[in-house]
Amino acid sequence: MSNELNIGLFGFGCVGQGLYHVLNNSKGFTANITKIAVKNRDKKRTLPQELFTYDKFEILNNPSINLIVELIDDAEEAYQIVKHALQNGKHVVTANKKMVATHLKELVKLQEENNVSLLYEASSCGSIPIIRTLEEYFDNEQLTKVSGIFNGTTNYILTKTILEKLSYPDALKQAQEKGFAESDPTNDVEGFDAKFKAIIIALHSFGVFCLPENVLNIGITTLHEHDINYANEKNYKIKLVPTIKQVAPDKVAIFVLPKFIQQHIPLFFTDNEFNGVIVEGEFSGEQFLKGRGAGGHPTGAAVLSDISALSYGYKYGYKKITQNKSNQPENQISIKLYLRYNTEDELKKLKPISIDEKFESAQYKFVVGYFNLKTIKEEKDLILSNKLFVCVANDEVELL
Ligand code: HSE
Repeated sequence: MSNELNIGLFGFGCVGQGLYHVLNNSKGFTANITKIAVKNRDKKRTLPQELFTYDKFEILNNPSINLIVELIDDAEEAYQIVKHALQNGKHVVTANKKMVATHLKELVKLQEENNVSLLYEASSCGSIPIIRTLEEYFDNEQLTKVSGIFNGTTNYILTKTILEKLSYPDALKQAQEKGFAESDPTNDVEGFDAKFKAIIIALHSFGVFCLPENVLNIGITTLHEHDINYANEKNYKIKLVPTIKQVAPDKVAIFVLPKFIQQHIPLFFTDNEFNGVIVEGEFSGEQFLKGRGAGGHPTGAAVLSDISALSYGYKYGYKKITQNKSNQPENQISIKLYLRYNTEDELKKLKPISIDEKFESAQYKFVVGYFNLKTIKEEKDLILSNKLFVCVANDEVELL
């Protein structure tokens, strides 16, 4: 790719504006934003009106634009834009985790077929360079597990409500005002956003293509004071933790669940909108990366880094992809959970494999024991509608 970068930008929300600012303040790097496509004609813009268009083809069909930066909210529209751009020989940088996670296999193929590059560092864990680290540094080492905090909004809410005693609605409102939350925050608090990121990271760490519907995500919406008290008594913090773990040579388990975090784990000190990724390698052992996981500037900085990488022709190598791996996440695994429930019937439906601890009071009941992840996935609706709370109790993840 030529060093002259002419960017067609889609979206001028929190991340788009963050990128604009970051780009204008980066020394030794020139890239022109030629045109910005936006949806809302009524919104007051901070830049001259002639820079904006409402017609996506004004950018997509402009031969002088050699790089598309896609930062819109709508995953389906983003997919159409990115697909069109790749098919027409334009390189793309995107931050859209839902779009990337949902179409990963096709997007990898489109890059190969059209000899173009699609980079998406900003889609996963904001400013933490996790994808490039997996691609470039861990490209040949066999990894055993990647886990962490991949969502800034839930971490912010958990920090503010548990440590600073703010109410849940106020904490969410702050996360929205600060530009951390998705436009539909259900994606954050129910763990969908973290799941999309886990799926992307699973490809770069283990070479598997998993579809979102096959991966369990339960967020923090049913967390209750009782659960917080239990965690406080044990000196644990509660974090929403995606886990991607090799459970057999050809099998990877992926799930997103709240987890108790003990003080000696680096995630214990990863609060507010910060994200943290723990990469465990066969030979390197444990690595921990921490950084701002959400917000216009940190995410804009990740987009800038991708733009810069494209200026010297960078492409993902996808070296971990091999033919002998199952692309279905393995859900027949045993995990140790804390489960707060209301009735014995609910407990029965969740079919504990064994129970280590059981507590009953007039107010609430809980058990700590081993469960099959597959059953938890099948009973997700029961868990959410009856407001039960499940929380991973330790690191034991075993194939059943
Ligand atoms: N809503 C996302 C988060 C934004 O809170 O992490 C960054 O992907």
